[in-house]
This record gives sequence, C-alpha cells and structure tokens, in this order.
Amino acid sequence: MIRKPVLGSAGFVVVLLSLVAFAPGTLSQGQVREKAGAEKTIFGKIEDGTVINLFTLKNAKGTTATIMEYGATLQGLWVPDKTGKLGDVVLGFDGLEGYLGPHPYFGGTIGRFANRIAKGKFTLDGKEFSTALNDGPNSLHGGKEGFNRKVKRPHAASVRLTYFSPDGEEGFPGTLRAAVTYTLTDENELKIDYTASSDKATPVNLTSHAYFNLAGSGSVLDHSLYLNADKYTPADATLIPTGEIVPVEGTPFDFRQATSIGARISQLTGNPGGYDHNFVLNGWNGKLKLAARLSDPASGRQMEMWTTEPGVQFYSGNFLDGTIKGKQGAVYQKHAALCLEAQHFPDSVNHPNFPTTILQPGAIYKQETVYKFLVN
Ligand code: BGC
Repeated sequence: MIRKPVLGSAGFVVVLLSLVAFAPGTLSQGQVREKAGAEKTIFGKIEDGTVINLFTLKNAKGTTATIMEYGATLQGLWVPDKTGKLGDVVLGFDGLEGYLGPHPYFGGTIGRFANRIAKGKFTLDGKEFSTALNDGPNSLHGGKEGFNRKVKRPHAASVRLTYFSPDGEEGFPGTLRAAVTYTLTDENELKIDYTASSDKATPVNLTSHAYFNLAGSGSVLDHSLYLNADKYTPADATLIPTGEIVPVEGTPFDFRQATSIGARISQLTGNPGGYDHNFVLNGWNGKLKLAARLSDPASGRQMEMWTTEPGVQFYSGNFLDGTIKGKQGAVYQKHAALCLEAQHFPDSVNHPNFPTTILQPGAIYKQETVYKFLVN
C-alpha cells in the first residue's frame, strides 16, 4: 500500500498519513519513509516496549496536526485565530501515558461501531451477536478495547495506516481491514478518510472522537453552532435511540440558525445533562455535504464539518468533570470541549428504519469527513 504525496488541484501538497493497526502481537514490519510535511517523532512506549510514533502534518499557513499511532489519534490541532495566532483546538494529553489511562476517547479513531449498541446485541443473517459491554448495559464505541486503543503502524512507504481487526474481536463478526488517512491541505482542511472491508457481513461505523474547543481553553458554551439537520433521533436514559426520527423545530435541538451552545442547554435536564444526540443530516446522498459550522466569537476561529455520513453525534462534553488533567496541566471541566462525530446513527443494527451499517463481504466501506478551519 504505497502512496505517494499527491499534488492537489489547488497546487498544495497533500500529505498522506498511513495508520496501520494490527492484531495483538503481530506488529507489522512496515517502514516509514518521511515525506515533506510529515515529520515523525517518538511519542512514548507502551507496556511491552513498543514504540509509539507521532506524525506532524504542517501546511503553508502554519496549521499543524499531530497524529499518533496509538488509536490513530488526533493528538493536537493548531489553527490560527483572527490575529493569526495558533492555538491547539483539541483536548488530549502531552504524553502517551495519558492516552493509556482512562479517558473519554480524546481524539481517537472509533471502531468498529461508533456510539452505542443496545445491550451489545444484534441479529445478522439469523445469527445473534453479543458485543462487549462497556457502558452500563450497552456497548459503546466498539467495546472495551475499541480501535482507539489499538496500536497502528505506518505501512511501507506510505503514511496511511490500517488496522486488521480479527474475526470476533469485541464480539463483532468477520475479519475487518480498516484504514484511516489524515490529510492536511493548505486550505486549512483536515480530511479524514476511512475505508474498510470484511470477509463476513458485519456492522461498521467509524468516526473521529476529537474534542474541539476553538478558544483553546475554557468552556464551549459560548461557541455558536449551526447544524444542517431538520431532525434528530431521541434517546432513552441509557442513550440508546428510541427509533423515532423527530423534527428539531421548536426544541433546544434546533440549530438550523447558528445558536450558542449554552443558550438552551439548561433545558436538557435528564441524562446526559447536555447535548449527546444524533442529528439527522439533511439531504444525505453519500456525497460530501456541509453538516455543521462551529464558531468561537472571541478568537474568531470557525470550523466547518463536511461529511459523507447521514448523521452527526453532537456531544457537549457533559461527562467531563474536572477529574482529567490534560495538556499543560489543563483540567477538563464539564463542557470544556465538544465532539461532532460524523457517523451512521447509533444502534442502527437494531433499528431497521435507520440507514444500514452492514458491510457485506466484497463491498468497501467508505467514509469521508472534513474539518475546515476559517476565521471571521
Ligand atoms: C457519546 C457520549 C460519550 C462520549 C465519550 C460520545 O460519542 O455519545 O455519550 O460519553 O462519546 O464516551
């Protein structure tokens, strides 16, 4: 899987970062060849001595993304504010240790299945499957050790990284080959492309779990959000969708006019005490479409999210509670960041009225999401 740097149509150098994850104990012998703009440094070592590398992508504007092999994680994302000052807009840790300990999926690549599966159960082709339970009665973000906890290695001369998930891992059927490619363009877009294939029918739902704070610190309640969604999927007390698809009109879920996140959040009193819902994107046809626009008035930073997916999980960092010390000692309080996770709907495997997440053998799963940074 050798990839050359691609010269994009606008003349910018596109740097491909290849993440290769492996079945436990079968790390690849792949070698990294350095490419313009992709610098490799050692980020740390995991318990068995395996070295984990960090790749730095930098564009002509100075925007910098750091991506590490453990979890194919977006570790840092430095983007300019209205004065040109760079600030890191994603939560996480300065060192590998933080990522090895408990944390709520900071920056990780989520797989095999983004968000929840009710009771970890689904039936496929007449057979019942039980996936690992790691969120009360449910399965969350791929199980106990989802893709965010796997070591990924760059493969051969490319910087596109792939993961071979063995048949039965976390309860999911089929051997899944997944790949994620991060690309930083001179237009300040961070593109994340996913592909996967399986030898048996299996559910797949991959996403990125970056926690954004466009101010670089503090709360995101003052950030303003636009969502291109007329409808959302309500969820029960364990955050499993009820199966309904209801209009946002007249509810605190209506973000069709950009609205500050804090404006109506106090109306969401139950679990999770904030936004943690799947929004149904308008006009889904599998092509890249604008899903969300987030702005921070103080720094002037704006982020657009474009995706090929039918849904976005808007999670307002409700479970952050000040117990995690992150980068430069920052204490992450409730609403210190938010996630915009492009995805198929949670628990789709148990809701025939939701777009299917079943990948058939011989077919290729594809997902593309672009986070584009602007100032105003
Ligand atoms: C979920 C939240 C969860 C968070 C971290 C989000 O995608 O919707 O309920 O707490 O991930 O696990």
